[in-house]
Amino acid sequence: MTDIWIAGLGLQTVTQVTREVELVIRSSREVLYLDTGVGTGSFLEPLCPRVTSLYEQSYSNQRPRVNAYEHMAARVVDAALDHPPVTFAIHGHPLVAAHPPFLVLELANALDLQVMVLPGISAFDAILADLRLDPVVHGLQMYEATDLLLRRRPLDPEVPALIWQIGPLETCLHSLAVSRPERFSRLISHLRQYYPPRHEVVAIYCSPHPILPPAIFRFALEDMGGYAHRIHAGFTLYVPPAASRPIQDYQVLANLSSVEHLRSITRS
Ligand SMILES: C[S@@+](CC[C@H](N)C(=O)[O-])C[C@H]1O[C@@H](n2cnc3c(N)ncnc32)[C@H](O)[C@@H]1O
Repeated sequence: MTDIWIAGLGLQTVTQVTREVELVIRSSREVLYLDTGVGTGSFLEPLCPRVTSLYEQSYSNQRPRVNAYEHMAARVVDAALDHPPVTFAIHGHPLVAAHPPFLVLELANALDLQVMVLPGISAFDAILADLRLDPVVHGLQMYEATDLLLRRRPLDPEVPALIWQIGPLETCLHSLAVSRPERFSRLISHLRQYYPPRHEVVAIYCSPHPILPPAIFRFALEDMGGYAHRIHAGFTLYVPPAASRPIQDYQVLANLSSVEHLRSITRS
């Protein structure tokens, strides 16, 4: 018996809720949700007897975001102990760049509560669709923006890169304040070690609602500060490769169209 479903609501308000997620919400005694999309609350209300929005009660301006995550996890686990089953419904995919579900998993494990995780359409999926990218062709490197700086993570300029959470760069405090250009100076310097100054990058905010288009800004890496006032917490940075990697192994290449080789690696 499941006590807690951790479910993704998809990226775009209501339209990307999967049938399995809708089904578990209908079978829950409470849905606690983290999604500020217009219409999410009114979509959930007819599906479940108790609908609780966690955003307003969890975040406080200029306070650590981790306090909000702990509050949400505690609320979800309390509800599951009191009146299971419950759904913790989160914007996008519940395990992509989201810490509260991992806290819920940890607490539930300690309390012997049964948890199931249901995927949702993530910003990752929407970015691939909007930018027409296939992440398998050239590979993909993905990092959280502040973590990139904290650990001075190296980048491979031959592989496309997605940098998450560029809006809340360099802080673990909650804030909706508009960024100054200076916020991006260290990120630009870090990227400049691997990419030329005029390398075109893309800041993207995929559409949050079916009637809205995505916001896509293309600019030279060194000009990123000029977009600071437009890059809010929902944006991701796509950095295309600056070079393509030539083939290194000509034996593998020769084998690709060899019947003899195919027979040597398969059973008849
Ligand atoms: C807290 S994470 C949540 C991600 C979410 N769980 C998901 O699956 O997409 C927020 C980050 O996801 C990315 N993100 C969220 N919504 C986005 C959107 N509409 N377009 C592009 N990136 C988005 C941004 O990098 C943002 O800073």
